[in-house]
Formats: sequence, C-alpha cells, structure tokens
Amino acid sequence: MAGMSLRLESIYRRYGKVMAVNDLSLELPAGKFITLLGPSGCGKTTTLNLIAGLDQADGGSIHMGERDITRVPPNERGMAIVFQNYALYPHMSVFDNIAFGLRLQRRPKPEIQSRVRHTAELLAIEHLLDRRPGQLSGGQQQRVALGRAMVKKPAVFLLDEPFSNLDAALRARMRTEVKHLHQTLGTTSVFVTHDQEEAMTLSDLIAVMRDGKLVQYGTQHEVYGKPRDMYVATFLGKPRMSLIEGSLERHAAGVVFTAPDVRLELGTAESIGLRDGEWPRVAAGLRAEDVSLGAPGGLSFDAQVALLEPIGSDTFVELEVGGATVVARVPPEDPVAVGDRVTAVIKPGRVHLFDLDSTERIVR
Ligand SMILES: Nc1ncnc2c1ncn2[C@@H]1O[C@H](COP(=O)(O)OP(=O)(O)OP(=O)(O)O)[C@@H](O)[C@H]1O
Ligand SMILES: [Mg+2]
Repeated sequence: MAGMSLRLESIYRRYGKVMAVNDLSLELPAGKFITLLGPSGCGKTTTLNLIAGLDQADGGSIHMGERDITRVPPNERGMAIVFQNYALYPHMSVFDNIAFGLRLQRRPKPEIQSRVRHTAELLAIEHLLDRRPGQLSGGQQQRVALGRAMVKKPAVFLLDEPFSNLDAALRARMRTEVKHLHQTLGTTSVFVTHDQEEAMTLSDLIAVMRDGKLVQYGTQHEVYGKPRDMYVATFLGKPRMSLIEGSLERHAAGVVFTAPDVRLELGTAESIGLRDGEWPRVAAGLRAEDVSLGAPGGLSFDAQVALLEPIGSDTFVELEVGGATVVARVPPEDPVAVGDRVTAVIKPGRVHLFDLDSTERIVR
C-alpha cells in the first residue's frame, strides 16, 4: 500500500502567548518521505501531533486523501506514530509490545502471529521477541518501537526524532534502515528532526520550519541548491554556507559583487536571474564544494589560509579575506598550510546572493 496523501491547510496552534504553529499549509504526497526540519521549539512536534490527532488545531484543516480528518479521533486516522522516547510497555515482551495494537483491533490470533513475525523479520529482531524492553539495547528498543508502528500497516507513518537517543554510528545505521523500509513499504512518512544531515539523506521532500512557520518546502536538491533566504542557506549544509557582506554594482558588462578585497564579475542581471529592485546591502553565499584553490582569473579572489580541517576524503580550508571567512574544499593531498596566501576560485554560476535587509534570495 502506497499510503495516503495529506494536506494541511492554514493550521494554527497557540499555547498561551506562543504561536507554536502559525498558518502552516503543506501538501504531503502519497508514498513520499517528508521531513519537518527546524531548530528546537519551531513547532515540529506540535505539527506531528496535530496530524496524528493527539492535539487539536485552533484553526485550519487537515485532509487525508479527499477526507477532512480535522475532527477525526486519532485511532480512526489509520496512522502510527513513533516517539523519541520509544514509549514501550516495560512489563510486556517484545512480541506483546508489537502485537498490542493488533490485539486492540481484535485481530485473529494466527494473523497476529504472522504479522508480528513478519515485522520482526523485516527489522531483524526475531530473536528478541521473548525479551522485555529493559533487556534490550537502545537501538533494539528503537526497532521494537518501529515494529509496533509498522505492524498496523498504517496509511501514514509519523516519526518524531526517533533516533535522537542513539549514538552517532547507530543513528546513521537506523537512518539507512528506515530508508530501506520506506522503499520496501512505500508508506507515506512524516519524519521530524532538527538534524539537517538526517533530513537530507532520508527525505523526498523537506519542509524547513522556523517559529511555527514554513520557510521553504521542496526536494533536498531545491532547498540545498536554491535556499530562499539566509536562514535556510545556513541551516542546511556542513560546513555552513560562507557569507560575504558587500554590495552590487551594475555595469554595462554586467553585475559585479564587491566587498573588501573581493570583486566578482557575476555576468548580466539576466543570466544570473537577478530580481528587480534596489539592493543596497547584499551577502554573497558560497558553499565549500563550490570554492577551490587555484590560479587567478574568472571568479576568484586572493585570501589567507586561517585554519585546516581535514575530514579524510577532503580538507576544508578556512580562508580569511577582508574580514570575511570563506571555507573552501580541497583534495586531502593538496599542500596548503595556515598562513599561506592563496587564490580562491569559485565555480561559475554558484554564487548565491541575498538581500541583507530582508535576508531573501535575490537571484534565481
Ligand atoms: N503543551 C504545551 N504548552 C505550552 N507550550 C507548548 C506546549 N507544547 C509546545 N509548546 C511550545 O510550542 C513551541 C513549539 O513546540 P514543539 O514541541 O512543537 O517544538 P519542536 O520543534 O518539536 O522542538 P524540539 O526540537 O525541541 O522537539 C515551543 O515554543 C514550545 O515551548
Ligand atoms: Mg519536538
């Protein structure tokens, strides 16, 4: 089953003075893996609880397929939710934890047996079915929590930071497993995280949130490649996108970005898709993979090496130029040292431009 599509229409949720969710509209296509991404307190869990029906919106509506489910109780929504803290029943065996929802639905015994076994097989926890949660590692408990949700064959799968209690290595492994599971089952999945890397590796679509609002919604490629403002630009990507503050000059030959010790001839306003308007102060945004070290010419500027950060496959080189910091990515064998004078070379067409006042993207 490919799962159901969801549509949130102008959802509001207020707690006292806090607007936890503020006019949120979102289309979640059937069978896709959608991530709600944003810093702590931006309204991710509230949104998930509203989708699950565990909380009621103050305004707006939620549709599943064609059906308005805004007032439908949680157990009639055909969804399953996995919480950050697992919330397993400690006095029950793993088998009984997974079987719990099916027993509530009064499924026949043989069916429960086979569905629990099948789910346990998918998650590689068949050998743990007789144990209690207290006798399992964190990763194993997380699998049981996933199994308890999966066994119900939900139309929508909701996951709230399910891996945050796991160590880095296990988190990466569970991430891959969840991606495999999603490919196998094809259930519409809504995943909540504040970890941009997790969001990028898992998702078909990423909804970037801030202060209860949706800032940008699109594929990993879109939000990473064309961030709509400086917030999204610097939230996604590691290392963070470098920003140089400066101004734009318009010449007959084209648009030039200037900042202390930096002059970048970007091409015509048309070719870079510069929006109409006055931009007195702008920021040029550069991703490390678009900056290398080389010979002057084209889009380049001279800088001084301030710090080296080798990560094995590459080395990130922190450069100092006219008071700004720009990170370049170079092959690990490149001979550079702190203090060297070098030339930073930027890939054509890879300069992001933002209006410093509104922080919005002003190029295509
Ligand atoms: N039951 C509640 N009563 C009062 N305020 C709440 C309640 N639940 C959430 N909030 C507030 O609403 C805002 C959004 O909270 P929410 O839990 O949705 O954030 P989140 O994005 O999931 O954060 P985190 O990453 O820390 O889990 C926060 O400011 C939070 O303090
Ligand atoms: Mg949360």
